[in-house]
Amino acid sequence: MIPMTDSSFRVLDILERADAPISGEKISDELGITRSAVWKNINELRLMGYDITSSQKQGYRLSRASAKLLPHEVHKNLKTVFIGRKMRYLENTPSTNATGRQMVSEEDPEKLHGTVIIAEQQTGGVGRMGRAWVSPSGGIWTTIILKPNVPIDHIFMITMAGTLAVARAIRKEFDLGALIKWPNDIFIGNKKVAGLLLELSAEADTVHYCLLGIGIDANVPLDNFTPELQKAITSVSAELGHEIDRSSFLARILKEFESRYLLLESGEFDTIVQEWKSLSCTLENRVQVRTLKNSFEGEAIDIDEYGALIIKKDNGKIERVIAGDCCHQ
Ligand code: BTN
Repeated sequence: MIPMTDSSFRVLDILERADAPISGEKISDELGITRSAVWKNINELRLMGYDITSSQKQGYRLSRASAKLLPHEVHKNLKTVFIGRKMRYLENTPSTNATGRQMVSEEDPEKLHGTVIIAEQQTGGVGRMGRAWVSPSGGIWTTIILKPNVPIDHIFMITMAGTLAVARAIRKEFDLGALIKWPNDIFIGNKKVAGLLLELSAEADTVHYCLLGIGIDANVPLDNFTPELQKAITSVSAELGHEIDRSSFLARILKEFESRYLLLESGEFDTIVQEWKSLSCTLENRVQVRTLKNSFEGEAIDIDEYGALIIKKDNGKIERVIAGDCCHQ
């Protein structure tokens, strides 16, 4: 992790508030620290990606905020009550879900409820069905730790709240027609832009914790993917033709998620199901579904109050699938 001391943040705060260059002397007076400490803090901020110009005559000026997905930048736009109020930032980690697992093994999940882990890059990102998840810099690779107060039979709806949050945020922030493919994919047109992964630790009726992993190809150049994957994957920046501000986008996602998560906690499952149906690209499609047990085809006709997909097979039989892979035909 990049070292970022409290005094660096205090220096950053001064630079952010200043409307003209400010001398090292002034900063050191204001914070009661030495000139060389100011210089050290400026270098720490530069390492974090802040563009700070300096001239002997005028002093320091913040010319551009960091393009990294730093908690400090996300917090500037964050309007949530508890989701993301605590954050952990990592330049590199195998997987934010694995980091989350480690954290709940060391601290009471109740205390970590709402904590958001952010990684700039993942070296061993994991997708559904144990698949590898390519996670270069430019994406949003994040995990929300939850100690949910949601009945275990409705727990899958946390993924639904997550997919809704991502699709809504893409629509509101960028006016792109994002839709949800059951169970956990976000598509723009016929290409996947994001995927979610819910990990659960539970025993009998008790949920110990949930880890909601969210992976979004935000500013990921498509040449990071193999030619085969490029046929199936897009990124927000590729759709728009320019890079996006990931910090305000993530802040929006967390807000959209929190409001829907609270609906789940108050038992308003149908509100989530209805909104999900309105943003689904799976319903009314012919699909092929693979579960751990079997594989079959049919028409996706509904989503029930638990988030299960209802399929009408060609022989008229109705199947209900709570977990599996779904291909549109
Ligand atoms: C999928 O569509 O298969 C789900 C992909 C989930 C990827 C995210 S990125 C953040 C978190 N960490 C991981 O290793 N996976 C999830």
